[in-house]
Amino acid sequence: MQIKNVMVVGAGQMGSGIAQVFAQAEFNVILHDLKAEIVDKGMGYITKNMNRQVEKERMTREEADAVLARLTPSTDLNNASDVDLVVEAVVENIDIKSKLFSHLDEITPEHAILATNTSSLPITEIAAATNRAGKVIGMHFMNPVPVMKLVEIIRGLATTGETYEAIEQTTKALDKVPVEVKDFPGFVSNRVLMPMINEAIYTVFEGVAEPEAIDEVMKLGMNHPMGPLTLADFIGLDTCLYIMETLHEGFGDDKYRPCPLLRKYVKAGWLGKKTGKGFYEYN
Ligand code: CAA
Repeated sequence: MQIKNVMVVGAGQMGSGIAQVFAQAEFNVILHDLKAEIVDKGMGYITKNMNRQVEKERMTREEADAVLARLTPSTDLNNASDVDLVVEAVVENIDIKSKLFSHLDEITPEHAILATNTSSLPITEIAAATNRAGKVIGMHFMNPVPVMKLVEIIRGLATTGETYEAIEQTTKALDKVPVEVKDFPGFVSNRVLMPMINEAIYTVFEGVAEPEAIDEVMKLGMNHPMGPLTLADFIGLDTCLYIMETLHEGFGDDKYRPCPLLRKYVKAGWLGKKTGKGFYEYN
């Protein structure tokens, strides 16, 4: 199946990054969100990234403009009536995603694949909200999307081989590396990453070391590009808590219990970089 026209639903940090990499790979992209100001902000982020590529002489002005010209902002979901693929990157809420997928199922052409960028919600459950479960799949990009090579591709229970292959090919066309995983809570990335972050938060909670020291240990000792607490701030502490809760509930195993300090920070509104305060302060 030839994928050419793509809609990205959700113009936040992840959605904008996803739209950017599709446009760079010469797909026609509609960047959709509910509010025009969110779409404008997403387009602004992509424009800034393109300008930086030109400044660094990695792209000519003409090439950057061609990427931007392949992007169409949208606040009307009916614009999905002519796409081959939708990649959803909205808030991590199963009810919102299920409603959206049910709506997309009505609007999009019969052949269209519906992919979700969910970081931990069940693909099988999202697919069940549609009449095309075979064409629903997880396409989990990493943050920052323009930089990170991995896309976790998650097969729901009913996802067909044809859908999987189309998404695998598309991922390679984006110059990313697809890795196939099955539909279990947290998939692979967050099942391994989040308990490590949660454990780093426990070491703060128990007074074992200061956040700076914990991050230094993991950066210098394990060669991680960012310490786990800096990474948690970067991902968003609300997202980290949400994923830990999904793991805890999904497996029913207390080894995934979220650290009380993580809950406390989220309740305080200390969500990390996006709110200016988490384990560190940001201007
Ligand atoms: N958008 C676009 N480009 C970005 C960017 C962003 N938000 N942040 C950094 N970059 C680019 C920079 O422009 C720079 O590009 P050039 O080489 O072209 O100049 C490059 O990335 C490196 O940036 P820096 O030199 O400023 O900083 P760095 O070397 O520390 O790299 C980093 C930054 C790539 C983010 C690096 O720190 C890193 O790899 N951190 C870990 C990221 C990670 O683990 N991501 C996964 C999060 S988990 C997830 O996403 C899944 C989930 O479900 C929660």
